[in-house]
Amino acid sequence: MTHDPADTMTLRLPDAFLIGASTAAHQIEGGNVNNNFWALEHRENSPVEQVSGDAADSYHRWREDMDIVRDVGLDAYRFSLEWSRIEPAPGQFSRAAIAHYQRMIDGALERGIVPVVTLHHFTDPMWFTREGGWKGSTGPERFARYVEAVAPILQAVPWIVTINEPNMVALSARLGSGGGEPVADDVPGAPLPAPDRRLVESLTAAHHAACERLRASVPASQIGWSIASQVVRSVPGGEESAARFRDYIEDVFLRECADDDFVGVQSYTRNVFGPDGMVRDDPEDTRTLMGWEYWPDAVGEAVRDAHDVTGKPILVTENGIATADDSRRIDYTRGALTSLVGAIDAGVDVRGYLHWSLLDNYEWGSYRPTFGLVAWEPETFERQPKPSAMWLGDVARTHTVS
Ligand code: BGC
Repeated sequence: MTHDPADTMTLRLPDAFLIGASTAAHQIEGGNVNNNFWALEHRENSPVEQVSGDAADSYHRWREDMDIVRDVGLDAYRFSLEWSRIEPAPGQFSRAAIAHYQRMIDGALERGIVPVVTLHHFTDPMWFTREGGWKGSTGPERFARYVEAVAPILQAVPWIVTINEPNMVALSARLGSGGGEPVADDVPGAPLPAPDRRLVESLTAAHHAACERLRASVPASQIGWSIASQVVRSVPGGEESAARFRDYIEDVFLRECADDDFVGVQSYTRNVFGPDGMVRDDPEDTRTLMGWEYWPDAVGEAVRDAHDVTGKPILVTENGIATADDSRRIDYTRGALTSLVGAIDAGVDVRGYLHWSLLDNYEWGSYRPTFGLVAWEPETFERQPKPSAMWLGDVARTHTVS
């Protein structure tokens, strides 16, 4: 990216820089009745406030959604394949579900949209959970078998994310049980506990096994995984806690990218440590609908961190804000892109930016935090692109941020 000398307020993106939007199957498709999150939603005394239900009905309306991506001018669309639809029972693959996702990949390409495909975005088939899931000894091999089954449809997909946020998946066991017993690695006062080591090993093995299968069958694709960046920072007295937290929450996963083609970076806010735990002085009324600090610079910081650990090309696979005020979304995204310019100018190889999210979606238990560039009417599912969608489309078309 370069600064346009004619206008110091205009930042120019390189021609090949992708601008797009991201989604995930369970958050928009609807009717994913055969996965572990649906089971959690419907469990007696479920901790989940709302069920996903029909979500945005994107399983049927994906063409409309991709038309919007194309019409507003975005270059890329990231979506995920729902494993529980593709492999509803162990070793039993649904040709119809695979053909559905093949149509989506073809549909993106026909519209001139670059497809970015995630193979696992938080949800597991119920049979996998019953077998022990990522804690079970068969987890990596089960995942690799599924990856092998979908590889034939990924031939023309330039960017493949094997597992979305393994660092959050590795926490799921502990978060689901209210944190569980403290473990030696935990940093007192940290916003998240240390992940279960067995899960870290299993997810890492699954990623490597998936990469190996994909490299053999889709050699032209860029393959990586996407890490939830916490942008861990400190004020005097918080350095040691910050370093320990950062190591278990993200660096351990970033170090596993050594053989990957790229690293997916996902970032929303920052976490600052002081001598007594987290330092938080942002006024409550400025926080996002997730309760997170409004900090548009997070993504620029996140890519620098990922670059320092991996030295790999980076695709920002998620960044965005939960807000009911769309002009705030535009301001946040402008700030985020500006922070990326700074990182690129400092030598970080960032290949693109995918906004979270294309659609208002199911935020893992609630529809309240709205992250979308596009709203939809709950009764009819009619799509309503917001001004932010047009704004980001303009950025993609002109390759400038003003
Ligand atoms: C996840 C998304 C989620 C978003 C906002 C990321 O952790 O990949 O599924 O909706 O953050 O919370």
